[in-house]
Amino acid sequence: MPLENSPRRPIRELPDELISQIAAGEVVERPASVVRELVDNALDAGATQITLRLSAGGVRLIAVEDDGVGIAPEELAIALKRHATSKITNLNDLESVGTMGFRGEALAAINSIADCALISRPAGQPTAFSLSGLTGELSPAARAQGTTVEVKELFFSTPARRKFLKTDATELAHCIEAVRRHALVRPEVGFAIWHDGKLVEQWRASQGETTQTQRNQRLKDVFGDDFITQSVQVEHTQNGIRVTGRAGIPDHARSRADQQFAYVNQRFVRDKVITHAARSAYEDVLHGHRQPVYVLYVEIEPTRVDVNVHPTKIEVRFRDGREVHQAVRHAVENALAAPRAGAAINVESERYQNSSDFRPSNMPLAGVFTASTAINNIANLGQNPSLNSASNFTQNYTQNRTLLPAETHLVSDVSAAWPPQNNTYNSSESTPADDTIWPLGRAVAQLQGIYILAENAQGLVIVDMHAAHERIVYERLKSQINIAESAKSSLPSQPLLIPATFAATPLEVSTAQECADTLLQLGLDITAFSPKTLAVRAVPTTLAKGDAVELARSVLAELALHDASTVIQRAQNEILSTMACHGAVRANRKLTLDEMNALLRQMEETERSDQCNHGRSTWRQISIKELDALFMRGR
Ligand SMILES: Nc1ncnc2c1ncn2[C@@H]1O[C@H](COP(=O)(O)OP(=O)(O)OP(=O)(O)O)[C@@H](O)[C@H]1O
Ligand SMILES: [Mg+2]
Repeated sequence: MPLENSPRRPIRELPDELISQIAAGEVVERPASVVRELVDNALDAGATQITLRLSAGGVRLIAVEDDGVGIAPEELAIALKRHATSKITNLNDLESVGTMGFRGEALAAINSIADCALISRPAGQPTAFSLSGLTGELSPAARAQGTTVEVKELFFSTPARRKFLKTDATELAHCIEAVRRHALVRPEVGFAIWHDGKLVEQWRASQGETTQTQRNQRLKDVFGDDFITQSVQVEHTQNGIRVTGRAGIPDHARSRADQQFAYVNQRFVRDKVITHAARSAYEDVLHGHRQPVYVLYVEIEPTRVDVNVHPTKIEVRFRDGREVHQAVRHAVENALAAPRAGAAINVESERYQNSSDFRPSNMPLAGVFTASTAINNIANLGQNPSLNSASNFTQNYTQNRTLLPAETHLVSDVSAAWPPQNNTYNSSESTPADDTIWPLGRAVAQLQGIYILAENAQGLVIVDMHAAHERIVYERLKSQINIAESAKSSLPSQPLLIPATFAATPLEVSTAQECADTLLQLGLDITAFSPKTLAVRAVPTTLAKGDAVELARSVLAELALHDASTVIQRAQNEILSTMACHGAVRANRKLTLDEMNALLRQMEETERSDQCNHGRSTWRQISIKELDALFMRGR
């Protein structure tokens, strides 16, 4: 009803209860939100073991039990009050807050929409006390040091909310997910979840010596052993921002973005800057719309991030998002860049030798086996003593080999990159001893003008020669363009005979004007034709045959969203990738063994050479054991 038609109503202060119910509307969407708040509190209280007891998906009961510092009996009632907290006392505290909670609102909000009880025994106290949120009654109780918060009949006073809830099983799944988010970042804390009397999930406190080993152990417990073998360690510090964790290898990407976890100072967040940075780190190696898997822990000076942005604290605001973007992107990029071929050496064969219960009959009988099983054992190098010899081996290999001469090809001279100019290989070196030194082995044949077959210590290596060479040329071009950039030159550009015009949004028009210099650097000349029309007058020479409007639109969209430096990098990479495809050796070209071997050696030392420019694998390993299994040998 419009306000002017209704009688004037007096302005009144809302009752506390209603204020809390309104706050609850923001913070508590479903049982999982209560779980998140209570586990936050238990962690802030220094708990080492947290046990959850749930009933009917958490709607009937959520009880969270911890062994933290506890709450003094006289403070129990205050804890349930609005804006009552022990975690901050002034604005300074808020600006550098290190605890999960600080609003002093969660318990009051939950208490306003459910039947709550607090049972707590602080350290050094002879007994526990229990406070009923409903009646305010305080009575002695029995429990060891720590706190239990019981939340019964969630939304009993706000039935409309209750109607939004899904089945118990779904609500339970959300509750478990909420605990999992905490568990992934606090491996030193044990978690157990009971539902209707059954233990549904348990993660024991991990005992590792360093945070990294503890976290890896927890990641294994939560996602399964494969997670470690299918990911690489991330560890990078830049601009005072530390990024650690693990990034899934491209082969292990998923169709949904459901395994992407990001933390800022131990707080689980959904943050656009981090998500975008991680995604762009995969851009070069991930196929199509596949979603990477990662768990990233960002640590940053608390005053450089504002956590008081969203009531549920799932969003944060960085004082300098660009620095965070760079740090995350570089962290993941560096982790993914190392060619895994160079580290795969001998790991697989050793593993089989060491494994007494190996049964070839368990092997799949057909199909190409993913290289990832072999290559991913790298992740374990150094952790698993039995694999150390393999790791030394790789190290020796890297140290002893002659490095490639500095690349001198010019961008326009891509074709000169074939046959590969590699003086580290020469056929007379091809003694059996060398075969074991080369991770990708010794070329033995070319198949159908498409594949190179090579023999290495583990068995057979199959290489898609065009895809692999395309990546090598691409990586080379990227380093060349970096050189051009430091010389402050721009990409060669070609004017269009007839400018391509298109109806543009006001944002596109203003971006084109603001970023004219950046666009020119990219070889793009885009000017306003009319207030609502843009004209593309020149495009990069290499992309002259493409759709100028589409190119302009995507570059403008990127420019509007992000800082210029990342855009240039991305657009350039796209351009270079197209060039690389033209420059790479075509299928059906007959190669000599020397040429094939030279390509394998280049792959071993080229960053990201395990994936082609479109994110597909460039090589696969089939071990002798797998071949034996194919032929039922050794039964
Ligand atoms: N499990 C617990 N162990 C010890 N003290 C607790 C526990 N849960 C709550 N408290 C105390 O109760 C206070 C109120 O908790 P509440 O969750 O409402 O607010 P908060 O954690 O301070 O802030 P936020 O609203 O951001 O969560 C806390 O500041 C803390 O002192
Ligand atoms: Mg809290």
